[in-house]
Amino acid sequence: MARAHVEFIQSQVLDWQPWPYQQGVVYKQLSVDAETQATTGIFKYSAGWLEQEAYWLDSEEEFFVLKGEITINGVRYGEGYYGYFPANYLRKTLKANKDTVIIRFIDQSPKAIKYQCGDLVPEVTKAAIEGINTFDMHWDKGELDKKLAHLDFGRKILRIDDTTKAKTFLYMVSPQTYPPNWCGPREHHPTVEESFCVTGTLAGNHGVMRTGAYFWRPPGIPHGPYGSRTGCVLLIRFVGGEHINHWSDENYPFIFDAKYAPVLPDNMLLAGKKEWLPEPF
Ligand SMILES: [Fe+2]
Repeated sequence: MARAHVEFIQSQVLDWQPWPYQQGVVYKQLSVDAETQATTGIFKYSAGWLEQEAYWLDSEEEFFVLKGEITINGVRYGEGYYGYFPANYLRKTLKANKDTVIIRFIDQSPKAIKYQCGDLVPEVTKAAIEGINTFDMHWDKGELDKKLAHLDFGRKILRIDDTTKAKTFLYMVSPQTYPPNWCGPREHHPTVEESFCVTGTLAGNHGVMRTGAYFWRPPGIPHGPYGSRTGCVLLIRFVGGEHINHWSDENYPFIFDAKYAPVLPDNMLLAGKKEWLPEPF
């Protein structure tokens, strides 16, 4: 895997650019693999946008609707809906019913392979997950790791891969939470951790992530401790392998207003130079 460490970027500071694989679609590139062009990005579809040709990808794809509504193969995906398409899943029809914004995770080449009438579509070997409304799922508040108890968190598991044990889930952190005595250990994982802040804020060692924040963290990088003034919902992926938490023996200090100190690849340095702040007043 040849993806750079991105931790973290507010997607608001990135520019929309044309997505070369679908006509009329623009996207913000959050992470890209230099070899395979595997891409995580935020994609925008205008109301009425219609895919003209059926296609499939060599890659698996996961997606989550941030805004609007899109119908794929007759299945409706509104705000907060999740889907997983295995490699070779044929997209027969796609239509944006409203102005729609989706975060898409494409782990191999994103090149669309157009279906011609009579083509043999390669075999699909994993089960698709279609039209899951995450609002209808319950937060699992069973505590698995006591070192995260201070976050008063909940999870909605969206998918665990049977083979690799890769996991995708929504993670909810309660408001007004911080580690005991304002300090705690750091965690790291044997796999990539990737995350998008769907709503709210989360303070950690790289600053305060806000709605729209994104990170791609390669394996083995210590992070935390965390806390949240407002609470938040994160979409989290452990990519390519099982989610395991390893903890440091030492404790590290926590503050709610940690300075924005990102790790960014060259192409994001300019956009991510200054902290992005919402201006509600
Ligand atoms: Fe983590």
